[in-house]
Amino acid sequence: MPDTTSSAPLRIALAGLGTVGAGVIRLLDANADLVTARAGRPLEIVAVSARDRNRDRGVDLSGFAWEDDMTQMASRGDVDVVVELVGGADGPALTLARDTIAAGKGLVTANKAMIAHHGLALAESAEAQGTALKFEAAVAGGIPIVKGLREGAAANSIEHIYGILNGTANYILSTMESSGADFATTLKDAQELGYAEADPTFDIEGIDAAHKLAILAAISFGARVDFEAVACEGISRVRAADIAQADALGYVIRLIGMADISTDSSGAPVLLQQVKPCLVPKGHPLAHVTGPTNAVVAEGNYSGRLLFQGAGAGEGPTASAVVADLIDIARGEAGAPFSVPAAALQAMAPAESGARIGQTYLRFTVSDRPGVLAEITAAMRDADVSIESLIQQGRANDGGEVLVAMVTHDGPESCVTHALQLLADSESLTAPPLVMKILED
Ligand SMILES: NC(=O)c1ccc[n+]([C@@H]2O[C@H](COP(=O)([O-])OP(=O)(O)OC[C@H]3O[C@@H](n4cnc5c(N)ncnc54)[C@H](OP(=O)(O)O)[C@@H]3O)[C@@H](O)[C@H]2O)c1
Repeated sequence: MPDTTSSAPLRIALAGLGTVGAGVIRLLDANADLVTARAGRPLEIVAVSARDRNRDRGVDLSGFAWEDDMTQMASRGDVDVVVELVGGADGPALTLARDTIAAGKGLVTANKAMIAHHGLALAESAEAQGTALKFEAAVAGGIPIVKGLREGAAANSIEHIYGILNGTANYILSTMESSGADFATTLKDAQELGYAEADPTFDIEGIDAAHKLAILAAISFGARVDFEAVACEGISRVRAADIAQADALGYVIRLIGMADISTDSSGAPVLLQQVKPCLVPKGHPLAHVTGPTNAVVAEGNYSGRLLFQGAGAGEGPTASAVVADLIDIARGEAGAPFSVPAAALQAMAPAESGARIGQTYLRFTVSDRPGVLAEITAAMRDADVSIESLIQQGRANDGGEVLVAMVTHDGPESCVTHALQLLADSESLTAPPLVMKILED
């Protein structure tokens, strides 16, 4: 257990000296006085670990012990808290996390993949050990959303939580919007500028946002973390034509993670968790979130709508969140990692998304031949989907594919799903339709 009663330094072992790890060292050095004053005691790094001992990281490591095997940090007698900034849902990061908690030491991590997959078990162990498990940096980087929900909004029943949880996807969508360029070109530019990784799969396919959403949903609704239940769709199928069409209709496209709680027919709570590209009205606060910024909206029954916005990644913002957790631990503030004790988190079945009433944008890629529009509109009519607007975008010169975009009136999503089932075997459709929810103002 960290010593929380004295003014003795909080002794830290830091695993991972990459972007975030080096940032933590720099922040603790630059802001040492104010951090000490707020924590009530100094925060002192005693040991560090990374793969390559000889790499120049632009920070002075000479005052710290070096561990070749980071998992050994858990058993060091001179350490109160381990900070895990390595990454990966499993492997050495998870071993280190388990061993640290089992040894009764505090654990701070920025590892959303690990918390989304193993957070519940780690929280159970931490609570059994009476030690701290903290992961502010795992969700939306520098934005204090975990603290915002666990502390600032703790008196509220959260009715909705949703937001822009991945900076890379948001950079790509908002750049496509301002430049008119297509997805592939924009992704390539983002990679060259360092906004997207060489393998961008986790970011553009929504998996990274889904990790964060599963954590937010657990804290917001007292649900057991259930990453597998997040319905996840990325942005790689969004075309420049969709963005132009959305613009003409008064919307922008954003990758939105959203979680909602409701009840099923027997009155049992069910949890909707999804990450999908959505149309956002231009007047909505999330429509103004551009570039790599993240933003989360939490609607509390007493607080009303709360908007948290800021840098979702990067050395400084992420280090800021890590050190805030360390300050909490130094002050002796542990608390249940997911706001209520892990044993009290409820297992909630996934909600049927079709129960939602709302407007939907659909874009069909079709062969340019007579009768196609009639076929689509007939399917909509037969499924009770009422169409607000329908636009055929361009005509291919060679009789190839054209795009048909439509917006429905308010209605159950299950009707849209039914219409799509009716069209599933259509030979007129040359690719699966792109379906996006339209967010309300
Ligand atoms: N970057 C961000 O803006 C950001 C934002 C929010 C959350 N996060 C999370 O923070 C964590 C760290 O991210 P990062 O961007 O700092 O990653 P990074 O720059 O790739 O750094 C990872 C560090 O871990 C070390 N490492 C890898 N495998 C190791 C092993 N087996 N033993 C010891 N050290 C090992 C690496 O060592 P070498 O340097 O020697 O290769 C490196 O120092 C991840 O969980 C990430 O999801 C990052």
